[in-house]
Amino acid sequence: MSRIAKHLLPDTAQANKAGHLEIGGCDLLAIAEQFGTPTFVYDETHLRARCAEAVRVFGKGQVVYATKAFLCGAMARLAYDEGLLLDVATGGELFVALHAGVPAKGCVMHGNNKSLDELKMALEARVHHIVVDNFDELDRLDALHKLGLKSPRVQLRITPGVSVHTHEFVSTGQDDSKFGFNLRNGDARRAVERVRSSKSVEFVGIHCHIGSNVFAAENFAQAAEVMVDFANEIEVEELTLGGGLGVAYLEGEHAPTITQWAQALAGATIKLRKATKIFVEPGRAIVASAAITLYRIGSIKDLPGIRTYVAVDGGMSDNPRPVLYDSGYEAFLPARVNDDRTEHARVVGKHCESGDVLIDDAQLPPGYKVGDVLATPVTGAYGHSMGSNYNKVTRPPVVFVRDGKARIVVRRETYIDLVNLDVADSL
Ligand SMILES: Cc1ncc(COP(=O)(O)O)c(C=O)c1O
Repeated sequence: MSRIAKHLLPDTAQANKAGHLEIGGCDLLAIAEQFGTPTFVYDETHLRARCAEAVRVFGKGQVVYATKAFLCGAMARLAYDEGLLLDVATGGELFVALHAGVPAKGCVMHGNNKSLDELKMALEARVHHIVVDNFDELDRLDALHKLGLKSPRVQLRITPGVSVHTHEFVSTGQDDSKFGFNLRNGDARRAVERVRSSKSVEFVGIHCHIGSNVFAAENFAQAAEVMVDFANEIEVEELTLGGGLGVAYLEGEHAPTITQWAQALAGATIKLRKATKIFVEPGRAIVASAAITLYRIGSIKDLPGIRTYVAVDGGMSDNPRPVLYDSGYEAFLPARVNDDRTEHARVVGKHCESGDVLIDDAQLPPGYKVGDVLATPVTGAYGHSMGSNYNKVTRPPVVFVRDGKARIVVRRETYIDLVNLDVADSL
């Protein structure tokens, strides 16, 4: 019923004299006017603060930003400049990071099915290390070594056999998983033996990632303890404990901070040999609540006794999480951020699917109307990066705001972008 909760908004969010929400000193209505809708608006101060917090509590060079959460040139540079390494899980993500001027030594190559070409690209660029997922990948690294490529530093991704409280699509540390070398069935030990006697790779450590949007500190602690035992047994230089820290999306949710996450991991790794360096790989916790999405209401359909539908000019193409994971979001009107939200409506997109629902039961202030700007907070992670062109809807731009200035870092897609890949003489 109430106003939008402060903890769901970016750090610099505040109401101005007109009762409009400002982020980074920029009035969101002015942003909607200038850049159109939908638009992703990121609070640059918030992004930098989360990066700095992570570096402060884990150490410089020990935090690897998981770029899959949100990647563009500006974000790659920002994270690297703040002292983070970048986790890139495909040749495409590596390309974007390098293209932005991040040196290869600032990149960590991930992926559960890296092609020979992707591995070659990572080796030729000389990334910081490769997180090897499986035996077939080791075969490919052998083949590249035979071609004369320099042996990369590698960590082995281990499946610690820990199940977490999150959506099954983003739970990755359990035995029944496509990711990593299974610890329980002996694959992990076999992989260690193999890399230790291999000239194709320089074995430096082990890695795990138990899942995404995890709130429970005990899940992280459980996995960390399993990994510490294994790391001590095989005496490795490096141990990566993954990302996965959850964030609050809804009014009643509260997630641990990055600092609290570090404290939980510190407790669980107390027995780790002092010589072993710990890395972590947060994605969502760095970027999710830094951004909001601005939409414009295009139609309102009231079905008495059933519900009200509020359709906006984006939808599952800019935020597929509700459709994929049944994720919940909140909504508010930036023009009336202090008003109580006493009305209920289903916020839907413009795509040709009944499932194109952004918020099943949103709270909005009374009197909202067609043409109003509607905002959804906590859309900075896995929205832009998982977006699509479904229905040939053009992808929204990304705007960074800071100190009263708005700068566009990804432009809006145009109709010409939609036909650029068509081969001209095929028409
Ligand atoms: C290997 C790995 N590390 C880190 C992350 C980042 O997870 P999160 O964004 O939940 O922190 C992911 C996400 O899927 C991942 O697969």
